Amino acid sequence: MPEPIRWGILSTANIATKVGSAIQSAANANLLAIASRCENKAREWAEVKGVSKYYGSYDSLLNDQEIDAVYIPLPPSMHAEWVIRSAEHGKHILCEKPIAANFSQASEMAQACRKHNLQLMDGVMWVHHQRTAVMKQIIEKGNLGSLRRVASAFTFNWDQIPEDNIRTKKELGGGSLGDLGYYCVRAILWAFEDLPERVFATVQNKSGVDFNVTAILWFQEDRMATFDCGFDTVLRKWFEISGTKGSIVCDDFTVPTNEEARFWLHDPSGQAAVHKIKDCVQEINMIENFSQQVHLMKEKSLPIRTDWIDIAVNTQRVCHAINKSAEDSAIVNLADIV
Ligand SMILES: NC(=O)c1ccc[n+]([C@@H]2O[C@H](COP(=O)([O-])OP(=O)(O)OC[C@H]3O[C@@H](n4cnc5c(N)ncnc54)[C@H](OP(=O)(O)O)[C@@H]3O)[C@@H](O)[C@H]2O)c1
Repeated sequence: MPEPIRWGILSTANIATKVGSAIQSAANANLLAIASRCENKAREWAEVKGVSKYYGSYDSLLNDQEIDAVYIPLPPSMHAEWVIRSAEHGKHILCEKPIAANFSQASEMAQACRKHNLQLMDGVMWVHHQRTAVMKQIIEKGNLGSLRRVASAFTFNWDQIPEDNIRTKKELGGGSLGDLGYYCVRAILWAFEDLPERVFATVQNKSGVDFNVTAILWFQEDRMATFDCGFDTVLRKWFEISGTKGSIVCDDFTVPTNEEARFWLHDPSGQAAVHKIKDCVQEINMIENFSQQVHLMKEKSLPIRTDWIDIAVNTQRVCHAINKSAEDSAIVNLADIV
């Protein structure tokens, strides 16, 4: 067994509990340290989770030479600064979604990681689920025919809007597009393996952020996608990918609701066959995939997975175009987002 990759986490964010456990459960990773703006918080977190080192600042953790990789679950507006700083300290980086607050930040982050030969990946877990690979095989085998449409939604309902949540803070990169729509855009790019030529979107603003978004994306070869996201509708997290001969419907693509992850394959007559996948924890897969890549880069001088970086930057680029379209109430050509 190769030496496990040694991880540190920047902040005691809520999501750090889930991903921290995944690092501890992964076969090829060790969770070595946690950092917080507040040393007491870091110490408490380390005690509860059984982590040996804690730091009262993010910089102190980055100065720890024993750490190979960092997980960054900071508010989106802080991703660019801390990804770039992490790269300057020689750390490989798993950064939470949305990868950045805008496209130019995402490009700078990618450039910094490439310059220092360090891996960057966004923390989108569902792409690491075994179900995702099975759905991809079906598409690649041609079971859906020529792809025509992707539709997707990711919403949840806030009965009372929390005042102190990062999602309602514009200055921290809040808003439903970055929080939820990023996943839908990622699913659309994943299905079509292409970028849209142009997009159109409408937004309802509330509490100072985009509270819900509805978007249309036009692709080459008669393909279109639509999605909606928002903080004002019951939990929905589905997509439908349709072609000339069939369609795939997955009603919980971001994270399986049931123990058995499922999706439906519809044939030309509309008959649906359910497919089920058991025993897969997507966040552990994500950590193991990332750690394996870091191991191969360290020990076998393997190059960076540029596809991981490109998909994150491209997702941010499309989100940027969607934001601009909503702001200008106009169709935006992706070629104009540079
Ligand atoms: N992949 C997923 O399934 C998933 C799920 C949820 C969230 N996320 C993403 O993960 C990131 C964090 O989300 P979260 O809900 O876990 O956030 P959260 O609980 O609010 O945590 C954010 C952390 O950032 C640190 N921080 C530094 N400066 C801050 C500031 N000015 N205001 C607030 N916090 C500050 C704080 O840690 P310290 O005080 O310890 O320094 C705080 O605990 C976001 O990008 C979000 O989109 C991903």
